[in-house]
Amino acid sequence: MAKSDRRRLCHLEQIAPGQSLGFRKESTGPDDIFLVNDGGNIYGYKNSCPHWPGSTMPVRKNRYLDSESSHIVCSGHGALFEISSGLCIKGPCTGLRLTPVSLEITEMKEIFLLEEPHP
Ligand code: FES
Repeated sequence: MAKSDRRRLCHLEQIAPGQSLGFRKESTGPDDIFLVNDGGNIYGYKNSCPHWPGSTMPVRKNRYLDSESSHIVCSGHGALFEISSGLCIKGPCTGLRLTPVSLEITEMKEIFLLEEPHP
């Protein structure tokens, strides 16, 4: 039977409104996913730009947002994405989307990543 795993990412208080945080599964290497707090709503996506799938997006650790914290930005070629939908609205991959991840936020405000089921 398939079993899904939960991976603890952080506490809600660790990611303030207007901020983003990246997480990696391994001890080294680029983030595999990132979270954005947009006015108290938490969104999570894979750190993979649809322009060049597999390419990492931030210019440096945890910098997934533009200077106004109004859009997700890819440092590769400047693509801008809506925070709530992951839709690219400007740049070389306009019309494509970031890949969302499944999240669970507990009553204690702990944020978990619900990983893909393993066979
Ligand atoms: S790799 Fe993201 S915009 Fe080109």
